Amino acid sequence: MGFVIAIAQRKGGAGKTTLACQLASALLDIGYRVCGLDLDEQMSFSCWAAQRRARLEDEPAFHFETPASYGFWSALRNARARSDFVIVDTPPAVDQRVKRAVREADLILIPLQLTPFDLDASLPTARLIGEEGKSARFFINRTPPRARVAGLIRAQIKSRNLPILDVEFGNRAAFAESVASGAGVVETAPSSLAADEARRLAAATLKLAGRNILAA
Ligand SMILES: Nc1ncnc2c1ncn2[C@@H]1O[C@H](COP(=O)(O)OP(=O)(O)OP(=O)(O)O)[C@@H](O)[C@H]1O
Ligand SMILES: [Mg+2]
Repeated sequence: MGFVIAIAQRKGGAGKTTLACQLASALLDIGYRVCGLDLDEQMSFSCWAAQRRARLEDEPAFHFETPASYGFWSALRNARARSDFVIVDTPPAVDQRVKRAVREADLILIPLQLTPFDLDASLPTARLIGEEGKSARFFINRTPPRARVAGLIRAQIKSRNLPILDVEFGNRAAFAESVASGAGVVETAPSSLAADEARRLAAATLKLAGRNILAA
């Protein structure tokens, strides 16, 4: 049965789709079967999947669906049945689509950039997840190297008792470049710092899912 990871964040441009693509690619690279579901009408995750299919042609471990709203549950049922991990990308909103994804998820990842605006804008997402009683982690994205404000925001997150994943992505061109070709950094730049971060993200996710890194 696939473990369902929803990626949610009301704030636009926080890195939801980047995270979805990089996590999918890193889990596939380990040998897990992954199914992606795109609930966002911007269809960025779907474009990535289409590029991936065009590039790799035959990748039996990877499935992808872009379900219409009424097709979400049957798509999710199929996805769970045929994969080890289901990754659901959602729109920058707190609406029915996001609520459904949050309700069905085993884990929710909330990408967050360390600015005051981003934290404030993400609180409705955190509230929704809290109301549903779901397990979630903030995922700090585009970490600024030395900004003092970043430390202040981290402290604010901690003071609100919001759990943070102990892996972050730096602000690195390699993430965007790999996504543009339907890949992840573990495929396009395997010896880069970005790839180290993506592999650590996969390892942290496996731990939360109670899966073994070697068991794929
Ligand atoms: N860690 C990173 N380093 C460099 N660029 C990044 C990083 N994360 C995201 N980006 C870039 O930031 C932009 C927004 O990222 P992305 O599309 O993943 O956000 P999103 O939350 O899915 O946006 P939306 O809310 O519109 O769906 C993209 O151009 C992406 O390439
Ligand atoms: Mg997106």
